[in-house]
Amino acid sequence: MKKFKRHLVTAALPYTNGPVHIGHLAGVYIPADIYVRYLRMKEEDVVFVCGSDEHGVPITLKAKNEGVSPQEIVDRYHAIIKQSFLDFGILFDNYSRTSNKIHHKTSSDFFKTLYDKGEFLEKESEQYFDTEANQFLADRYIKGTCPKCGNPEAYGDQCEKCGSTLNPTDLINPKSTISGNTPSLKSTKHWFLPLDKHEPFLKEWILENHKEWKSNVYGQCKSWIDSGLQPRAVSRDLDWGVPLPIEEGKGKVLYVWFDAPIGYISSTKEIKPNWEEYWKSDETKLVHFIGKDNIVFHCIVFPAMLKAHGEFILPENVPANEFLNLEGNKISTSRNWAVWLHEYLEDFKDQQDVLRYVLTANAPETKDNDFTWKDFQARNNNELVAILGNFINRVVVLVNKYYEGIVPTPNNLEQIDLAVLDEINIAKEEIERNIENYKFREALKCAMQLARAGNKYLTETEPWKLIKENPERVKTILYVCIQISGNISILFEPFYQIVVFKLESF
Ligand code: MF3
Ligand code: ZN
Repeated sequence: MKKFKRHLVTAALPYTNGPVHIGHLAGVYIPADIYVRYLRMKEEDVVFVCGSDEHGVPITLKAKNEGVSPQEIVDRYHAIIKQSFLDFGILFDNYSRTSNKIHHKTSSDFFKTLYDKGEFLEKESEQYFDTEANQFLADRYIKGTCPKCGNPEAYGDQCEKCGSTLNPTDLINPKSTISGNTPSLKSTKHWFLPLDKHEPFLKEWILENHKEWKSNVYGQCKSWIDSGLQPRAVSRDLDWGVPLPIEEGKGKVLYVWFDAPIGYISSTKEIKPNWEEYWKSDETKLVHFIGKDNIVFHCIVFPAMLKAHGEFILPENVPANEFLNLEGNKISTSRNWAVWLHEYLEDFKDQQDVLRYVLTANAPETKDNDFTWKDFQARNNNELVAILGNFINRVVVLVNKYYEGIVPTPNNLEQIDLAVLDEINIAKEEIERNIENYKFREALKCAMQLARAGNKYLTETEPWKLIKENPERVKTILYVCIQISGNISILFEPFYQIVVFKLESF
């Protein structure tokens, strides 16, 4: 495996049209955070960036519904989301936002570079227009029946029922979501990224050279590529977003999926004067953590943009997760079916680690998974309390009772002692291997396995029985237990919210 000099880790920029919920945490932010904590513990050079995705139609629609400005919406949710990440110990090096000046400049310069290089197609076409609202109807401004599955509530960009990506003109019986009227057609000019032109490159880069990507990610890329890539519009007739930096583009903005991933670059720029070392050197390992609905944008569209620009590296991996359902139903911001993080904390004050644990143990890594409160309770009681808590508690109680809290000096180590101490090395190696392969559930299982081994050791050695007849042997047993406890705390550090700071020696 190639050894990289530094790491650049990104987590999908959440839309600022609502707070974040357990699905976000389980799918994207916890795995990314575990990966980064691990790299930091290894003292690797790593930058971990994220920020709020503040453009796009869902935000302007919400603003309209509430009768406030889009800025008011994004300010509100940016603050809530940022706080949730802090509360749950998601330790970004920078949490930025796409309404920042630096991002507007970075993304409009990026567009200009591609424009000047002739990397776009320009096309005049007929688009739906709401004459009453005097506005073009991009993306979620239009609803209709999905041509693929018949869902009457499909949006102009996507059908949430069957997951198909759509164009507004694909919809059957389209209606404006602003006025409810049937739209008319009006001609307008747009700029397109010719994905078809990049197809040979994408084919080779992903299908040939990245066979190691997770099968859900590789499979989605393959089916996109196999069905033939089409040019995609990167501009929109909207007034909320990054204005197009060209004369003919007056009154238009960048498509949100064009500017948002560039947010990773602006977020890095904001904190790193040497940001180019992270983005432009093939000694950097770039990894994008995302949910499955973002795969095409991170594996096909954004890499095509980066390639067309010419100066940037491409991701080494895109470990996308599947979805987490809640009690058997799809989590939905619009239907308010979610466990919101700020609300979780109202009911479970200071219990972030329980949620982090459960969401990692049950992460939707290879298929959609279900979160249930019953499972939450069971994992808390049967694993965190009965295994991990029980072991640490027994060790602490015994050491306090026999040695006033001072670590005893061990005598000769017997076979059983050496065997359990060896479990520490095994756990460390397995955790490392699994984290490096983005298998976080498995890694957590290995950490828990050490606590199980500790319990088994205590049960077998029974120091509470030996203390009278063989107190010297008990010193060794509890010394071994302390070693296991200390190492458990280190091995759990990537998974926990609380950071165990290293004490400086003096
Ligand atoms: N806002 C998008 C979502 O929540 C993710 C954007 S990721 C980025 O699905 F790359 F565009 F930033
Ligand atoms: Zn559909």
